Amino acid sequence: MTHWIRRRRKCGFSRYGHNVRVARVLLGVTGGIAAYKACELTRLLVRTGHEVTPILTPDAERFVTAHTFEALARREMPRELYPHLVEADLLLIAPLSANTLAKLAQGLADNVLTQSALAFDGPVLAAPAMNPRMWSHPATQENVETLRRRGVELIGPDQGDTAEGDVGVGRMTEPDEIFERGVSLLEMRDQLRGRRVLVTAGGTREPLDAVRFLGNRSSGRMGAALAAEARRRGAEVTLVSANLSVPTPVGVDVVDAPTAEDVARETLARRDADVVLMAAAVADYRPAERAEGKRPKGGEPWTVTLEPTTDVLRELGAGRTNGAVLVGFAADVGERGLERAREKLATKQVDLIVFNDVSREDIGFDAADNEVVLVSADGEQRLEKASKERIAVAILDAVAHRLGS
Ligand code: CTP
Repeated sequence: MTHWIRRRRKCGFSRYGHNVRVARVLLGVTGGIAAYKACELTRLLVRTGHEVTPILTPDAERFVTAHTFEALARREMPRELYPHLVEADLLLIAPLSANTLAKLAQGLADNVLTQSALAFDGPVLAAPAMNPRMWSHPATQENVETLRRRGVELIGPDQGDTAEGDVGVGRMTEPDEIFERGVSLLEMRDQLRGRRVLVTAGGTREPLDAVRFLGNRSSGRMGAALAAEARRRGAEVTLVSANLSVPTPVGVDVVDAPTAEDVARETLARRDADVVLMAAAVADYRPAERAEGKRPKGGEPWTVTLEPTTDVLRELGAGRTNGAVLVGFAADVGERGLERAREKLATKQVDLIVFNDVSREDIGFDAADNEVVLVSADGEQRLEKASKERIAVAILDAVAHRLGS
């Protein structure tokens, strides 16, 4: 294979002009019409100085030839699992077919790509591409959740026309966008190493009796995405979890905290963290009394007195001594809500408030997407509607900037 390997360059340059350490990228290509776009991805990676090892599945070789990739990558495609494959810095799979996605979720190892994926414990970025009906099928969506929970980052698929003439979500994200995300993952992998990041997520439930509670609709998806992103950047992450309805990311220390009191206790006990991201929807009030057992039905109205809970974020802000970065979230309505988020920045003494408008059904509470405004003393940044995973990237960028990382 040596005739393909050219002299290695010591570093390359991303399109932002940053110096990037040369990385060893395993580029998995699966069967699908988007396979030809992986050629452009290879070219972009090689041009920026990275070592690319292409691994085509047998199905991919029906669409593109290994020879094309070998020429672009200037190295041979491995036909069996070599130990050095698992020492790569990044496994990038583009396109990722529904079939290989399912195999990865199940841990199957029936070709060199799936074997490498199983043997590899570094960061994985994958760009699914398939028919929109296949993408939206519950089987695929469950596999997607499994991979996300294990820390695999999925980019796309995007909305658009597919090869079969269907329109919908299933089209592979464009190679330049995949390339940029891959490079930034490589740049970021040590960004928060040695830092302790505390994330609260989900919605608290305040018991009325043994079976009933006062709660809210928060799924915890935003907080889980933040925890996964902080972990990806090398941080030591603790997730204070209030009734999450999404899986918790792998590699993160999870502490269950179902009530506001639990969140307060577990969070304040870890207030020496370098970063605290208060994404949980913590109840402002709880029933002053909890009925014994299950309260039986009666003819009289049931009057419940609610008492205020501890405002955890305010306590963290007021008692801050270690220069930690504090991030609060404000779920509120419209321009007046944004105005209130600006006020919370000062009253809760935090560095950043992430505002989202809860009057909209398509974002925020219990939705896959979010559209937020990052409010800080330095100014405001409006982020376009995007998946919570992408919003988490932007929030962690802002946090890292404040830490000087
Ligand atoms: N928060 C908290 N402890 C509480 C309530 C909220 O730490 N008891 C945190 C949330 O996790 C969030 C931020 O405070 O990061 C803002 O929460 P929000 O409910 O929007 O604001 P409140 O301060 O509760 O004010 P209001 O409900 O009047 O908007």
